[in-house]
Amino acid sequence: MSTNNGFTPGLEGVVAAETELSHVDGLKGELIIAGFPLARLAANATFEETTYLLWHGRLPTQAELDAFKQELAALRPLPPATLNLLHEAAKANTAPMDALRMASATLDLGSSAADHQTTAKTVVARVATIVASYHRLRQGQDPVTPDPNLGHAANYLYMLTGEIPSEARVRGLETYLNTVIDHGLNASTFAARVIVATQSDLVSAIAGAIGALKGPLHGGAPGPALDTVFEIGRADRAEAVLQAKLDAGERLMGFGHRVYKVRDPRAEVLGAAAEKMFRADGDMALYELAKSVEETAVRLLARHKPGRNLQTNVEFYTALLLHGLGLETDIFTPTFAVGRTAGWLAHCFEQIQYGRLIRPQSRYTGIMDRAWVPLAER
Ligand code: ACO
Repeated sequence: MSTNNGFTPGLEGVVAAETELSHVDGLKGELIIAGFPLARLAANATFEETTYLLWHGRLPTQAELDAFKQELAALRPLPPATLNLLHEAAKANTAPMDALRMASATLDLGSSAADHQTTAKTVVARVATIVASYHRLRQGQDPVTPDPNLGHAANYLYMLTGEIPSEARVRGLETYLNTVIDHGLNASTFAARVIVATQSDLVSAIAGAIGALKGPLHGGAPGPALDTVFEIGRADRAEAVLQAKLDAGERLMGFGHRVYKVRDPRAEVLGAAAEKMFRADGDMALYELAKSVEETAVRLLARHKPGRNLQTNVEFYTALLLHGLGLETDIFTPTFAVGRTAGWLAHCFEQIQYGRLIRPQSRYTGIMDRAWVPLAER
């Protein structure tokens, strides 16, 4: 972290909030979600259990979980105005994250939500429906009506494909959604907290967070990461292709992280889930290729930026797992949003309780005491 007279570029290393939601240790490569080491939680919990955990600070009982799942399922259908907007966006060939950003502003349309919890449930339920419906519309297909008998992850896959997914695929997606649900004060979460800290509303916070997540330095990396693996195609081409990218001044997508200086623990969890998925499908070729690309990329990055510890981040294995689940590249980032929405809302609840406006300062570096020159003399 370089601090220049009280100014820390990118706020690197600055603690700007206290949270009980997740703990990120970038040197140990550790992620704790509400007390659980990531690996223990991600592979066991359903998305609804993890969401409940973040919103209530403890796991639900069976009765609480059943009620929570039912409430979320009932809130999935979109109002006609949101669907119309998605139709228009598809006609204009709008990118999926932009369509999600546009539709997110309508998340509370027609909702009679009287309290934050109901708004939050509506938001979590509808974000998944927006992403899946828009994907169908872009493919020239009708949106699939959500199935209230399916859990959140299973229904998301169902709304994308129109087919009831296998248990293995549902487990793969639950693991993914749990893995990305929260991650300290990342850029989109910070954006959401800044917005609710002004006593604005939850939907505004989610719309802002979606905008922050979209960028390739945050949630936009998994598509390009997979494109690179496909471009490489064969393990023996990895070094030449990756080196050419570095020589051209490009960043290798899926590597490097602001906080992690060792391998991102989420890469471990998602890599294991991807391996399971590809093994179940009986074709390990892409998984093996990705492992080899990872090993080469980390080696080349160590040579390219000695001492910077550029390691695999969450996005590399996100790409592999989501591809294995049959998702297309352009909905990788929107699917990240489907999971992270629950974490954004948990942070909003914390911030609302804390109640302090977030308002840092800037240091003026411009001219002082400028002379006014009348228009005719400029
Ligand atoms: N490939 C090549 N060089 C890299 C990479 C990379 N993936 N990551 C960092 N570097 C270089 C930078 O150019 C910089 O070099 P410089 O000091 O000579 O300018 C140096 O390593 C340090 O990088 P910073 O930019 O200071 O790292 P920062 O903490 O700002 O950025 C980030 C982290 C944005 C994730 C960066 O590593 C990156 O761009 N990675 C590729 C994109 C990516 O995978 N994004 C997903 C991140 S995970 C998430 O947000 C969910």
